[in-house]
Formats: sequence, structure tokens, C-alpha cells
Amino acid sequence: MANNEILYQTIANAQWWRSSVIYQIYPRSFADGNGDGIGDLKGITEKLPYLADLGIDAIWCSPFFKSPQKDAGYDVSDYKDIDPLFGNLQDFDDLVSASKKLGIKVIVDLVPNHTSDQHELFQAALAAPEGSAERAMYIFRDGKGKNGELPPNNWPSVFGGNAWTRITNADGTAGQWYLHIFDSSQPDLDWTNPAVLEMFDGVLRFWLDRGAAGFRIDVAHGMIKRAGLPDIEVIDTTMGGATAKDEKDLTFAEIEAFNPYWGQPEVHPIIRRWRKVLEEYDDRLMAAEAWLGPLDRMANWVRPDEYHQAFNFGYLDCPWDKAELTAVINESLRAFGNVGAPSTWVLSNHDVVRHATRFAYEHATLPAQGDGIGPDFAQPDEAKGLRLARAASAFMLGLPGGAYIYQGEELGLPEHTTLGGAYRQDPTYARTQGKRVGRDGCRVPLPWVSKANESNGFSSTGESWLPQPSSFARYARDLQDGVAGSTLEVYKRVLKMRKQFNLGAGNFRWAPEFMDETTLAYINNGVLVLANFAGKSVVIPAGEILATTQTDLTIEGELEHDQTVWIKL
Ligand code: GLC
Repeated sequence: MANNEILYQTIANAQWWRSSVIYQIYPRSFADGNGDGIGDLKGITEKLPYLADLGIDAIWCSPFFKSPQKDAGYDVSDYKDIDPLFGNLQDFDDLVSASKKLGIKVIVDLVPNHTSDQHELFQAALAAPEGSAERAMYIFRDGKGKNGELPPNNWPSVFGGNAWTRITNADGTAGQWYLHIFDSSQPDLDWTNPAVLEMFDGVLRFWLDRGAAGFRIDVAHGMIKRAGLPDIEVIDTTMGGATAKDEKDLTFAEIEAFNPYWGQPEVHPIIRRWRKVLEEYDDRLMAAEAWLGPLDRMANWVRPDEYHQAFNFGYLDCPWDKAELTAVINESLRAFGNVGAPSTWVLSNHDVVRHATRFAYEHATLPAQGDGIGPDFAQPDEAKGLRLARAASAFMLGLPGGAYIYQGEELGLPEHTTLGGAYRQDPTYARTQGKRVGRDGCRVPLPWVSKANESNGFSSTGESWLPQPSSFARYARDLQDGVAGSTLEVYKRVLKMRKQFNLGAGNFRWAPEFMDETTLAYINNGVLVLANFAGKSVVIPAGEILATTQTDLTIEGELEHDQTVWIKL
């Protein structure tokens, strides 16, 4: 490939999602509208002007459906209603119409792999006899061993422990086992059953009719389990599962053979069916949460009649390193481009350690995805993490394609790394007896107004379902709004310039003429984005500086280490 070859080109008349910036809202931690310490839909609606000001195109809300909240709403007991914790359907309609006025789309989180154990279908399955139509909605099996006392196979739960739970029959005798790839409160549906397919067509239409711009699909590569439910050879509790360390040496078929419940080929017809439902409407989106590696394989899930895009977890998992970033960007643009899908870019979400904290560590020393960081782990250098996070975000947001922002990263929020066990709510914590502390540290409520009360203005009462670390008072939005050089202003500026120069749908090429061995530079629609990875400053090329992450500028015209600058050439 020639050094300055254009790697990505605008697609004419492109759909909105090809270039959009989507802001992830974790409803229970975004803004509390009723003072009970848990964020809600009213809270989101109230803060919409703030999001419009930030410059995003759409919000994706993590689940707000009726749920016993055993996995923070990813355990749904009614797909067509709102949990009273978050409000009601009228609040959702209000959110959609208020968003529309501001030009913001609303994306709903669909959880198809499993329901809550409190869903009426699962309750009916428990009450019905073995072999009944009710049981056939889920994956019930007889146990192994003399009296069925052993689980049907050796599959592990992602959250620790076994993926099977044995039920007790109405007469008190021990019964069959049901499968739950996640918590025991999240039984897996049987997606080979046509009744399950039909039920979800209805769920999709319900939200599309109400004005949802589309769906983020949870565990988008799950759903189908290999026939016969064979044991797996290597126990791996990450959601990639199949992504063995040397995956690059394996063929896709070999990777798929490796794990019997992630990325099975029979999931594709389900996606195609959903895609047809979406195409009954104008321009709606399905974004896949599919932890599949390598990126070439992930691209198979965003072919023209499947998901519209997938979270780029290869990018999320990339350290702040010139060579590795170059490689993952090349691979992303090529792999997704090959199937006509936009690449996406993402650094944080509600399942991973926030990138302002991740970048404070040597990449190899980080815990596995989902395990989190607790008080017993080496504590991060907060200033270093923030500096690299700002540089990395500004570098990411100039790339062409879809970008995702996780609430609070625009404030530079770190992970809560000292949260005590008593507060931990992620099922991972209890299921591993605290060995893996889990994901609560990235889910802490946002600080809006510094020291307004104990929750820094998250709720009017100071209540907060998880306590904030004391540092959050320094990151509150009111301290950053309008303050030159604040992380919030850096985000606003790059998002504004991204829109102004249409970078989401831009023409991208590397810019070797502006690089030396310690910098990385690309040009997108005439905007040069340059990052400095060295321990020393570099000279800023001539041109108009559109945005910079640098606040501690010591020598005029130089870009210090771990900083990013945008220049109009
Ligand atoms: C997805 C969600 C995660 C949830 C899991 C089970 O990975 O992002 O938060 O726990 O699915 O639904």
C-alpha cells in the first residue's frame, strides 16, 4: 500500500449512522430527576440541552425496561414497559419528542439472548412440566450423573461459577437444569424456537413505532448454542470466549469450533430477519455488541443485510501506542470497508474500566475485561491517565465512521478504583466471592455541580446508588463548562470541528509527511490530526490550529508528549 493512499472514502448519500457520534447513557447513573438516588428518564430529558451543546447526534440508553435489576436492567422482565425506577412509557415518549426537537436520535438497548427469571415466560416454564411448550422457550436439560445431580455440560457463566442452575419442582423434588450464560437470574432463551423469533419481531416494532432510531443489540453474537450443547475444551469467561491468544493463526471456522455459544453461524439468519423488520421503517440502526475477534471476523456480522455496525472492541482494547494504533486503524478500515460497513471507534462503555484509568497502566497489567479494579489492585496515576485519555479521545474523534462516547468521558472521569465490597452490585462480585470486583467502578453516577451536595448534583437530595469517589468533585461539569482547556471543552471543540469538516464521512489517509518515529498523523477532509507519543515535544506543523488537548503549553509552537492537535492545512 502506498503510504499516502486514501483508506476510506465518503459514501454518497450516506445514512446518518455511518458517520454519527453516539453518546451512551447509563440511565441509573446519568441524572436523577426524582431524588431517589437512581437516574431516570426524566433526568435524561432535563439534561438534553447539555447533550445538544456537547455536539452528539444520538443517545443510546442502556436498558430501562421492567426488570428486577439483578444485572442493572440487562435482566428484562417486560420488554414493552419501563421499569418504575426509570419512569413510564410517557416519559419515554417525552424523551423522544424532546430529543427530536434538538436533532438527537434515541437508540434503545435490546437484550435478546436472555430474559429475567421473573419474566412471565420463564415463570410459566417453571410451572409447566418437562417437555412442554413453555419449557421450550428456554434451554432446560436433564442433569448428568445418577440422579441428574450434575450440570448438563461444563459451560461457565461469564460472571463466574456455572452456567446451569437446577430447579426445584412444585412437589419439592429436584428438577431439570436451565442454562444461563450470565447470572442465574438471566435464563437464556432458545432461539431455535420460532415462538421466540416471533416474540422479538413484536418487541422491535413496539419500540420502532414509538420513535426509537434503532437498537444497540446486547450479546449480539450469542443467541444460538451449538446443537447437542457439547462441553468446551478451554474454560474462558470473557465474552470473546473463542478469541484464543493466537487467534490470528486460526481460521474462522476453527475459532467458531472453539466455543459452542459465541458467534455461531446460525445467528446470522436471525440478524437478517431483524434487518428486514427495520427496513419496514426509514433509516433505523442496529449496532452489535459482539465480542468477536479478529476484526475480519467481526466484519462478517455487519454485511449489508446484517447489523449496520458493530462496536470496535479491537480499537477499545488497543493501548496508547503508535504501532498498535496504526495497525488497528488499518485493520478496521479494511475489514469493515470490505463489507461496505463503516468502522466504529470506541474507548469506553459500562462494561470496561474507563479509559482515563486504563491508560494509567501498562496495558499488559490490566485485569481481564469485566473484572474491574478494586482497592487491592495497584492504584492508578490519575494525571497520567487523564492526559493520555484526552489525547486518545481527540485522536479517535477525527476518524471517519461512527464514534461512541460513554457518559462522563467528556468530563475525563476516572474509574472508581477504591469502591468497597459493600457497595458492589455487579453479579460478578458475588459470583466470584469478590475475586473479580466487576464493573461498578465505571458505572458511578455523574457529577454535575461540584459540591452541590454529596452526589455533586447528580440528584437533588445528594442520594446516589453508588458513592462517587472524592475526586469527582474536581471533574464536575460546572467546573469545566466554558473553561478553556477543560476536558469538556476539548470534546465540544473536536465534535464541532468534526461536524464542520464532515470528518465522520471524510476521506482518510495517513500523513507520513508529518510523522516522525514518535508521532502519528492522518489527514481527514483536509484536517491534520497529529498525536505525539514521545517523551519530548515536537514542532507543530504550520496551519490553523482547530483543536488541541494541550493545556500546559510551555513552548509556543510545540506539541508536548501525549497530546493531540487538529490543524487545518
Ligand atoms: C452485555 C452488557 C452487559 C451485560 C451482559 C448481559 O455484555 O453490556 O452489561 O451484563 O450483556 O446482558
